[in-house]
Amino acid sequence: KTASVIAMKLTRKQPRLGVDRGPIYLVEAGLVDQLKELGWNVNFDGHHQFEEITTADDPPIGKLKNPRFVSRVCESVAQVVGGHAKKGELPVTLGGDHSLAMGTISGTLDAHPNACVIWIDAHADINTSETTESGNIHGMPVSFLLGLGDKVDEFAWYIGLRDIDAGEKKILKDNKIRAFSMHEVDKYGIGKVVEMADLPIHLSFDVDALDPSVAPSTGTPVRGGLTFREGHYICEALWETGLLVALDLMEVNPSLADAASVKQTVAVGCSLVRSALG
Ligand code: ARG
Ligand code: MN
Ligand code: MN
Ligand code: MN
Repeated sequence: KTASVIAMKLTRKQPRLGVDRGPIYLVEAGLVDQLKELGWNVNFDGHHQFEEITTADDPPIGKLKNPRFVSRVCESVAQVVGGHAKKGELPVTLGGDHSLAMGTISGTLDAHPNACVIWIDAHADINTSETTESGNIHGMPVSFLLGLGDKVDEFAWYIGLRDIDAGEKKILKDNKIRAFSMHEVDKYGIGKVVEMADLPIHLSFDVDALDPSVAPSTGTPVRGGLTFREGHYICEALWETGLLVALDLMEVNPSLADAASVKQTVAVGCSLVRSALG
C-alpha cells in the first residue's frame, strides 16, 4: 500500500494569508514518518509544489478573488492527484485553502469515476459565483464540482455543518444533498451519522469542522464543532469501510494563533490523517 503525500504551498487565495504554510508544518511535525510507521510506503515529492504557478495580474472576475490563480493551481493539483490515484496510490493532500478540493476531487474522479465525496466541515463551501458574499473561492469548491446548480444526486455528503450562508441553504435543498449538521451529530451520535457508503470515498476534511478549542489555528473558526474524538471517529470509521481512495486535510493555518495553538492544531491534523489511514 502506497500513500502519496501532496503538500501545497499556496498564497493569495484568501485575505487571511498564511494558510499556505499549514502543509509545511504538518510535514515538519513528522507526518511522513508517522505514516511509514503505520506500514505505508510514502511517496512524497517535496512540500513546495505548485510554487511555480503565479499570475502577475489577477483582478477579480465578478466577486471571485484570485480566480485565474486558483484555477491554474487546481488544474495542476488535479493532474498530480489523478496521476497518483491511477497508479493505485492513496493521495493525501495537505492544505492549504479548501478551494484546492476542486483539484483533488477532480483528480480522484479521473481515477475513480464513481467515487463519492464526504465533506467534513463547519461550512458547506457550496456558494456559487452568484451567491458568494465573501468572494473567497474556498467557500465555493463544491458548487464548481457539481457544475453550478446542475442536477446531482448523492454526490456529496456533509458532516459537522454549522455555518451556512442563505444562498447555500437553498443550493443544498435544491440538489437534495445529504447534510448532517451538528444538531444531527448531537442527536444521533457520530457513529450513526457516518453511514457506510458502498462507493469509493474521497474524504475532504476541513480542520474547522472541529471545535476551535480542539483546532484553533484556522481561518474561519466557528464554535460548537466536532470534538477530538468525533473527528477521529469519522476518520477511523471511513478507513474501516475499506473504500477510502483519497484524503484532503485542509485549512490548517499556522499564522493565525499563538505557538501552542498552532502546535495543537498541527498535531490534531497529523493524528486525523493517521486515523484515516488506519
Ligand atoms: N461561507 C463562507 C464563504 O463563502 C465561509 C466559507 C469558509 N470556507 C472555508 N474553506 N474555510 O465565504
Ligand atoms: Mn481557506
Ligand atoms: Mn470550513
Ligand atoms: Mn472548507
